[in-house]
Amino acid sequence: MARFIDELKRSHHCGALRAADEGKEVVLFGWVASSRDHGGCVFVDLRDREGITQLVFDPDFAGHGDAPKKAYDLAQSLRSEWVIGIRGVVIGRGSNKNPRLATGEIEIRVVELTVFNKSETPPFEIADSIDTGEEKRLQYRYLDLRRAPLQQTLRTRHKINQVTRRYFDSAGFLELETPVMVKYTPGGARNFLVPSRMHQGKFYALAESPQLFKQLFMDAGFDRYFQIVKCFRDEDLRVDRQPEFTQIDVEMSFVNQDDIFRMVEGLIFTIWKEVLGIDLHEKYPSGRFPQMPFEESMGHYGNDKPDLRFAMPHTDITDDVIAQNGGGIPFFAAIAEKFTTGKYRRDLPTEIVKALRIPADIAGKLSRAELDKLEEFVKGMGAKGLARAKVDGEGNWLQSPLAKTVTPELRTAINARVGAKEGDLLFFQFGKESMVQTVMANLRIHLAKKLGLIPETGHGGSFNFLWVVNPPLFEYDEDRKTWAAAHHAFTRPHDECVEMLETDPGKVLCYRYDLVLNGFEVGGGSIRLHDPAVQAKVFAALGINDDEAKQKFGFLLDALKYGAPPHGGLALGMDRLAMLLSGAESLRDVIPYPKTQKGTDSMTDAPNKVAPEQLAELKVRVVEPQAS
Ligand code: AMO
Repeated sequence: MARFIDELKRSHHCGALRAADEGKEVVLFGWVASSRDHGGCVFVDLRDREGITQLVFDPDFAGHGDAPKKAYDLAQSLRSEWVIGIRGVVIGRGSNKNPRLATGEIEIRVVELTVFNKSETPPFEIADSIDTGEEKRLQYRYLDLRRAPLQQTLRTRHKINQVTRRYFDSAGFLELETPVMVKYTPGGARNFLVPSRMHQGKFYALAESPQLFKQLFMDAGFDRYFQIVKCFRDEDLRVDRQPEFTQIDVEMSFVNQDDIFRMVEGLIFTIWKEVLGIDLHEKYPSGRFPQMPFEESMGHYGNDKPDLRFAMPHTDITDDVIAQNGGGIPFFAAIAEKFTTGKYRRDLPTEIVKALRIPADIAGKLSRAELDKLEEFVKGMGAKGLARAKVDGEGNWLQSPLAKTVTPELRTAINARVGAKEGDLLFFQFGKESMVQTVMANLRIHLAKKLGLIPETGHGGSFNFLWVVNPPLFEYDEDRKTWAAAHHAFTRPHDECVEMLETDPGKVLCYRYDLVLNGFEVGGGSIRLHDPAVQAKVFAALGINDDEAKQKFGFLLDALKYGAPPHGGLALGMDRLAMLLSGAESLRDVIPYPKTQKGTDSMTDAPNKVAPEQLAELKVRVVEPQAS
């Protein structure tokens, strides 16, 4: 029988011992974080997931025969990351305490030592902050995960999961699973496909979310469902996107939008309290998050996930530009003309002009060189340039290419519209609506970081939540010149908009909502269509005929015929919550085994080629990419 583990059981973790434990005999297991030999003793910092404890190997530790001497001899060979077990006695450190360690009041005089395993020199140091490239860290993820910051974030994840389960269980939700291998349905994100061996030439899709299945749970009468569930989307990756991510997925019957908001707000308040110890009531005394209409969000912030930790809204000045026929500015005149001659309609996405005002007190912080660099920044997003103007006491525009030609009328109208005051800086962007919105949204964030209004990364102690509500049901597909579902075709339109489904689809608003935190979309959902008659009208507006609807969504449409209750729900991006809550820089810092930015797993080397026999069995042939 082995002395350690079999006979000597672990008595404490490495973060547990305090002054009150002095004199106790303890058994600890862990990794050698560091070891140094001085004064005839070997000092070792022993690490496990709970913390670090200092061990002292003193050959003259009296009262234990020759065991301490044997341990001391062996300890001289210890190296970083060796896995060891010790038996020893807790001794107080007197005036020699280490205030940086939770266990800094004590140390362990070691009586017995065993080496469970040696370690090669790790490719990087297991320390809190290291400057090793991410690629290397991901290749050796198990070593990276030994570092305290990652241990901390994974613990945060665990806590979010536990709080979520307790919260929903006590609110009467059932945690039910849904299939991962599903039928491919169009719309939504691009799916990963899985070839079927038994049905050659056919494919499953990996579920991008449990959407349709959770709706069917409602039809089945389960009333309240939740799941902490993996979802798969074959999208280009960003700091806040992974191909494989986790949702906290929720669906409820017999509820309206506000009922869902209250349930989700309750969960977020509980998570913040239990995981971070922060009472969000201090910022949101009513227990409710503010709401902003989608249109206002697009108008003032250029997207539907505004970071409201700071102000600096944009202003759409297209109407002023049209009213003044471009106000002497050739680019503006060209846009205005397209509207006045009827080429463009203001209710369709075409071209717009937007202004962003930087108030005088902070505008002064930007040097000329920094202003010029902004031009490069916006060009990277497809802009042709970035017109700017400095406003003087009389409302004149200075240091601006627009100043020479702009008419006083347009200048006055724009100044009034954006609320320009002396010393303010104005930025302008014009052109295709989607480009202008993206550029202005990103410029606003970029400037806020440059001006120190928000930190480069992390929450900076401030958590700003917002519901973005009432978006249009359809968006205009410029290529096909038709209306398309902005999300999926099963979102319920506002009752007062149902009539417009046939006459003016662009104006139909719907019960769809996003939860935004510090400029990130952390959740989204909708009230679903449960009325087959309205569903038929939505399909008609989308140009989907009965056969097509049946082929694409037959099973869901069938279910609507057998007593579907009014229902709705939402999914929270669990990884994004964990990232924002822990102030991490990217999802890769909060997902145990994430994919790289290129979608690969550099530790296991996935995706990889498979044997020709495997492909043959699946009747799948790989077309090798042409050498270019
Ligand atoms: P949606 O597509 O908005 O809604 O997704 C819900 C939330 O999931 C998170 N998320 C992601 N997180 C990491 N990586 C990704 N690639 C990724 N994609 C999405 C976001 C997002 O808000 N079935 C609907 C929900 C519903 O209607 O009930 C859905 O999936 O935080």
